Order: sequence, then C-alpha cells, then structure tokens
Amino acid sequence: MATTHIYVCTTCKLADEAGLPAHERSGARLHRALGALAGERQAAVEIVPVECLSVCKRACTISFAAPGKWTYVYGDLPADAGAEVILEGAALYGATSDGLIPWKQRPEPLKRGVISRVPPLKSVSEMNP
Ligand code: FES
Repeated sequence: MATTHIYVCTTCKLADEAGLPAHERSGARLHRALGALAGERQAAVEIVPVECLSVCKRACTISFAAPGKWTYVYGDLPADAGAEVILEGAALYGATSDGLIPWKQRPEPLKRGVISRVPPLKSVSEMNP
C-alpha cells in the first residue's frame, strides 16, 4: 500500500497572526503538532512541510496525496486541534485504493474544508490506450 503524504503549509497564518514570528503562526504550529502526533502513533504517513498551497485565505491548509490516488486539498483546519482529525482522515485515505474517502466517513472538518481534488497522474499510454 502506498504511503500517504500529508503536505502541510507551514506558512499559513490567521489574520491576527501577522506580527508573530513565523514559527509561532498557525501553519508552523500545525506542522509541529502533526509530526508529534504521527510519531507518537507511528502513523503510516509522510509529513511534508511546504511553503504555501495557494489557498492562503483558508488557513490552515493541508493536502493528502499518494501514487495512483486522487489528491485532496483541505483548508480551514484549526492549528491547535487539527492534527487529530488530519490523522483520522489520512488513515481513511490510506485505506482506499483510489484516495476517494466516502463522504459520510469523512470527519466533519474535512467535509467543510475540502477545497479541491485532482485526479491521479496517468501516463500517456494509460490515457490513450
Ligand atoms: S500560506 Fe498557506 S496556503 Fe498560502
């Protein structure tokens, strides 16, 4: 089974965090919390920090991706309570063969926060058999 990559925007910040040092802003805090929780639980995920997923008005933002699966981008996740729900969603994502988590199974913040989904990358021969 392919490892789920969780891309976490470390530069996300809420409107009132502009004056905070970068490491104290929401995205950086979420990235640290997620890394700590995933390590504690030995979750089968790869947490990848990224600087901006281009949905800056919906901080905090993350993405789930894995080879052969749909990629999902989520926003509006809470910095200090988001790690739990993200790992729950990542486990559901990891259990699918295509990345499509049935809507009813998705944790509420992932239902509300979905921003986009992108189909799996296919080779030219797969697209033009
Ligand atoms: S700063 Fe987080 S999406 Fe742009």
